[in-house]
Amino acid sequence: MEEKINAYLNELNNFSPSNLEDIEKFRIRFLGKKGIIQDLFAQLIKVDPDKRKRTGALINDLKNKTIQKIEDFKLLFEVKESKSDSEKDLTRSVDFFDFGSQHPLSIVKNRIINIFSYLGFSVAEGPEIEDDWHNFTSLNFPIDHPARDMQDTFFIEKNPDIALRTHTSSVQVRLMENEKPPIRAIMPGRVFRNEAISARAHCIFHQVEGLYVDKNVSFADLKQTLLYFVQEFFGKDTKTRFRPSFFPFTEPSAEMDISCFICGGKGCNICKNSGWVEILGCGMVDPNVLDNCKINSKEYSGFAFGMGIERITMLKYQIKDLRLFFENDLRFLSQFKSIIY
Ligand code: PHE
Repeated sequence: MEEKINAYLNELNNFSPSNLEDIEKFRIRFLGKKGIIQDLFAQLIKVDPDKRKRTGALINDLKNKTIQKIEDFKLLFEVKESKSDSEKDLTRSVDFFDFGSQHPLSIVKNRIINIFSYLGFSVAEGPEIEDDWHNFTSLNFPIDHPARDMQDTFFIEKNPDIALRTHTSSVQVRLMENEKPPIRAIMPGRVFRNEAISARAHCIFHQVEGLYVDKNVSFADLKQTLLYFVQEFFGKDTKTRFRPSFFPFTEPSAEMDISCFICGGKGCNICKNSGWVEILGCGMVDPNVLDNCKINSKEYSGFAFGMGIERITMLKYQIKDLRLFFENDLRFLSQFKSIIY
């Protein structure tokens, strides 16, 4: 069913009418009483009950995108066809217009949001210019602690208390300060680190961080949530592996690898023959962080994770140079046309 919906999404994306009549035909085919969308909704009863909600949402999404696209095209053609005869220049070459596409980082960000929304995670955002408290101190980075050096920070010269956020963990703090548990959110956003620009690093990049705080949240919940995510994103056969790590704001902390989805774990140049690729950092929220945000750590626990969107996108689409994301070369961007999220 999902494959079918994706095929229709693809068709929708490639639809390029030459006149209003084409649009009307397309509308009837997709949105008519006996159209594709109605038919998909009718078939929903046959879908596994536990997948039904998700499939329903996908059909709705297809429907909304279809309506939007038809509206857009109609507007365009109505303007064109309403020109009076005297205004028409019959010698003019045919109008050629091309639609833009979503940036690969947006495609991946939206897909991540989409997957976590099935688990009840909402989306939270925060400022890119942060104070020391939200970026470091509340997250258990004491002043002068060497962990601050892990993240090469851009400070504002006139006020060392203010910096460009080095991670989206600052949004976690803002959320916990302002909301009562249960808190379940992901936080996509731009982050900044003073790093030399190369094929593998940039001074501006994107992260998605996740946070779940409630009574009795355990490491098992963290593992299952991340397993669900990677299997949805990279494929059902993906396996995970956790290695102990260190972050000041989580205890215990781990880094998660996934089995290489290119070679299936046999070894290739993407996984440097190890069969595994590292994709994110995670852990149980340190009780000090909960207390700093006025959440009673005796009563509540939580997990958090954070991943780089560039890294995940590079893995998924086998992009070898991170700088491509920022150059906006159409030869690169137009390769992502058929993917919509
Ligand atoms: N904030 C960490 C980083 O930028 C990632 C992370 C988030 C790790 C949440 C653990 C938990 O590297």
